[in-house]
Amino acid sequence: MIAPALEDARRAAALEEVAAFLERSGIEDARGDARALLFAAGGFGAAELLLEPMAKLGEAALATLRDSARRRAAREPVSRIIGMRGFWTQDLVVAPHVLDPRPDTETLIELSLELMRERRREPLLILELGVGSGAILCALLAEFPSARAIGVDLSTEACEAAALNLSRCGFANRASLLRGRWADALGARFDLIVSNPPYIESGELEALEPEVRLYDPRLALDGGADGLACYREIIDDLPRLLAAQGVAVLEAGDGQARSVAALMAEKGLEPAGIRKDAGGRERAVAARRHS
Ligand SMILES: C[S@@+](CC[C@H](N)C(=O)[O-])C[C@H]1O[C@@H](n2cnc3c(N)ncnc32)[C@H](O)[C@@H]1O
Repeated sequence: MIAPALEDARRAAALEEVAAFLERSGIEDARGDARALLFAAGGFGAAELLLEPMAKLGEAALATLRDSARRRAAREPVSRIIGMRGFWTQDLVVAPHVLDPRPDTETLIELSLELMRERRREPLLILELGVGSGAILCALLAEFPSARAIGVDLSTEACEAAALNLSRCGFANRASLLRGRWADALGARFDLIVSNPPYIESGELEALEPEVRLYDPRLALDGGADGLACYREIIDDLPRLLAAQGVAVLEAGDGQARSVAALMAEKGLEPAGIRKDAGGRERAVAARRHS
């Protein structure tokens, strides 16, 4: 079967049929995904489904839902089908050829907030290396209301997506974007530097889930032979980029946090903490510049 028929157009029936179709297609959270696709296609939420399960979907919504179910069965992620993803407190556009931001990355926001809490209202200068969709900068600019930020990415699509998300979130006047290689074009010093660099070992890329392998860009994933190549490049520049009392917070892949912390220590930075994600994995690593 290529797509569910959806002959019974009632909301609850459509949900059951799409969930069963996705389950037969081998999708792990078939029901959760079916609900998200139904809500996006129908333009309603959980409360409306509960209150009016027998209401019928219109022809346009049914066509969208059939197509969405077909795409999900082919392993396209829900966020890419819907084109949106919630991150921290905002809804962001998920653009083709740009990394779909992950919930684990919110750990980096939590650690940044913990370390900079007393300076939250100061006019901080923030730098993100590898800005992608702009998810991290949108979250930080929401939490640091007087801060300004620069985001850098080598990918044109990422810079465009970040510009769109920063503007949708109302931060266009506090953020600038640069297309280029890490910090090559930067001479300023920053109070907070964040990065979630590519960290998958090159040899592991082919074994990734289709949702990642087929839809996230390789430039956002490939961390070189040992997964640490981008950290080395970024950390090399941290001493010249961090302001006095400045803090750098980097996301780490599974099992990489201690190696990332060691690379930061090798450059003379002072360890400032490691924070675990919701799954208990060490996910965000911080270091400080000596004053
Ligand atoms: C893992 S993604 C992170 C995206 C976003 N910050 C997030 O957390 O969702 C890494 C990003 O680094 C960018 N990138 C890879 N190599 C780069 C380089 N040499 N210079 C600048 N950006 C680079 C990729 O294009 C990608 O957007």
